[in-house]
Amino acid sequence: MLKGAIICPDEELSEKLEELLTGLGVVAVVRTVPRYPTGQELMRMLRAHGPQVLFLSIESLSRALEIVAAAEAQLPGLQVIAVGRNADPQTLLEVMRSGIREFVSLPFQRTTVCDALARVKEILDRRPVHLDSTDLVFTFLPSKPGVGSTTIAVNAAVAVSRQPEQRSLLVDCDMNSGMVRFLLQIENNYSILDAAERAFQMDENIWPQLVSTVGGLDVLHSGRLNPESRVEPTHVRHILDFSRRNYKTIILDLSGNLEKFSIEAMHESKRVFLVVTPEVPSLHLAREKIAYLRSLDLGDHVAILLNRCQKRSLVSPAQVEELLGQPVLMTFGNDYQGVHKAMTAGKTVDPGSELGRQFAQLAQFMLDRKATAAPEKKRLVEYFSLLPQSVSLFAPGKKPAS
Ligand SMILES: Nc1ncnc2c1ncn2[C@@H]1O[C@H](COP(=O)(O)OP(=O)(O)O)[C@@H](O)[C@H]1O
Ligand SMILES: [Mg+2]
Repeated sequence: MLKGAIICPDEELSEKLEELLTGLGVVAVVRTVPRYPTGQELMRMLRAHGPQVLFLSIESLSRALEIVAAAEAQLPGLQVIAVGRNADPQTLLEVMRSGIREFVSLPFQRTTVCDALARVKEILDRRPVHLDSTDLVFTFLPSKPGVGSTTIAVNAAVAVSRQPEQRSLLVDCDMNSGMVRFLLQIENNYSILDAAERAFQMDENIWPQLVSTVGGLDVLHSGRLNPESRVEPTHVRHILDFSRRNYKTIILDLSGNLEKFSIEAMHESKRVFLVVTPEVPSLHLAREKIAYLRSLDLGDHVAILLNRCQKRSLVSPAQVEELLGQPVLMTFGNDYQGVHKAMTAGKTVDPGSELGRQFAQLAQFMLDRKATAAPEKKRLVEYFSLLPQSVSLFAPGKKPAS
């Protein structure tokens, strides 16, 4: 399947196109941008999603051409298919003159779109998109402190690093209660603050001094408690630019305070894992965070991880989904002993335990190896039979935004 992105300010046009593409099953639309993005937004989108084909509205041909130029520079080999409402001769001529070879217009015909995609695929087979930086950047965001976001981030990062040929990086971005250094017993005194200070001069000589290697995982911890510390969004962007070229997978553990630099990190991420527990305060704050992230156009980056889930949880995964208005990607068991034992030994949770296997499954998902959540789904059904469906956690009228 080709990875596609749509940039189209015309909502109706965009919806029609996406509908057709979904039906065709040749392109997976990884991102839809309902406006012409700024240069920076475009870069972020291309880096985070690494599309192979871009469907670009020519509503404003001049804006579209600026985007083509910038996109080709960032992602050589990216194929562009122009999209418009009309195929009048004047428009066609302008598109052809601009150098865009493919054009589809309303009413979208299956065969026309299929033919264009076949030509695009042939070019991509001969000359694949060259992405010299990874798109595998993931952020972990707790709905509320203590839900287990860091625990999952650390264990998933180690599970990723156990896979062959996975140079992976874990960055602790929690400047007030960063736990990664303690959890992995890291001695190095350099931290993300030192990386931020040197962000603009980062190179292959400075970097190895800043990170510590634990097994196959490089770790940049958050240093000592330092509420005054200032990490700016530009620092994060530079650190990520450098890291994307040097690692295959990058995992950022966020505090949950939604600092500006955290928002930047989420914009740069392929997925934002919002970690929740089946408890009212955690779910309440998760809903607020989801609404906020949606307002920042980050909604489709968010995937829910349900932690500390027990058969006897008062709120079932199905109810969590209902409350949050989106599916739970994976659930993780409650294993206090396993987590405690690992923590006191400075190790990760036993990979042979059930929780350890769940972390490995998340790692597979992150690496796009589609270790699907099928067993988890089975578990959902189990919960259905255990619990009444109508437990209401929020006052009437406070239904989750859909
Ligand atoms: N699946 C789990 N089962 C049992 N305890 C857990 C689990 N996940 C996390 N914990 C515990 O919960 C506490 C908070 O975890 P932490 O990862 O620091 O949360 P956060 O990063 O969301 O603030 C820790 O004591 C941790 O050991
Ligand atoms: Mg944490």
